Amino acid sequence: MTKIITIDGPSGSGKGTVSRMLAEKLSYQYLDSGALYRILSIAASRRKLALDNKEDLILIAEHMDVCFKTSTQGHFSVLLESEDVTIELRSEQTGANASQIAAYPEVREALLKRQRAFAIGDGLVADGRDMGTVVFPEAALKIYLTASVEERTSRRHKELLEKGENVSLRALAEQVRARDERDMNREVSPLIAADDAIELDTSHMDAKEVLETILSIIDFKGLH
Ligand code: DC
Repeated sequence: MTKIITIDGPSGSGKGTVSRMLAEKLSYQYLDSGALYRILSIAASRRKLALDNKEDLILIAEHMDVCFKTSTQGHFSVLLESEDVTIELRSEQTGANASQIAAYPEVREALLKRQRAFAIGDGLVADGRDMGTVVFPEAALKIYLTASVEERTSRRHKELLEKGENVSLRALAEQVRARDERDMNREVSPLIAADDAIELDTSHMDAKEVLETILSIIDFKGLH
C-alpha cells in the first residue's frame, strides 16, 4: 500500500519547498494540489471563461491535459495542453484566481480523482489545504505547517524580488490575509488542521530545519 504523508498549511508556510524536498529524500511521488487549482484557473482564462462558470470549470477539471515534469537537473515544469505554464502558474494573480474557484464544492469534487491518482508506488507526499482532512484522511502522517502573516509575507516578497517583481510589502500582506480569509472560511474543505495532524510553526525555521524535523518524526514513528 502507498504510504501517504500530507502537508497542509496556508500560502507561504513553506509547505511547497519542504514537501518537494521530502518527496525527493524518500523517493516518493509528489502532489502539488495547489498547482491543479492554479492550472484550472489558467485553463479557464485561456478559454475566456468567467471564474464563476462552474459547469464549464467542472468539464475542464475532468478533461484538461496536465503534465508535471522534473528535468534531470531537478527543474520543475508544468504543461497544460502541451503549453509550458510554469511561470504563469506561480503569479499572484493565478494564486488569487485559484483560491476563488477552489471555493466551489463541485470544482473540488471534480479534482478529487486526479489528486487521489497520485497515490501510487511506495509513497506520496501531498501538499495543499485539505490533504489530511478530505483527500487522504487515511494518511500515515499528517503535518500542518503555519507561520505568522509577517513572515509569510516577507518570504513571498523575497521570492518576487528574486523574480524581478517589486511589490509593496503592505500590498502583499493584504493579499496574504485575503487569501487566508478565503481559504480558511469557505464552506467546503476549508484550510484547517486535521485532528490527528502534527502542527509546526515555521516562522523561525528555514526549509532545511523543517525537513529535518519532519524526518525525525517519520523516524520516531517508524514510518520509513
Ligand atoms: O498552495 P497554492 O498557493 O498553490 O494554492 C493556490 C490556491 O488553491 C489556494 O489559495 C487555495 C487553493 N487550494 C485548495 O483550495 N486546496 C488545496 N488542496 C490546494 C490549493
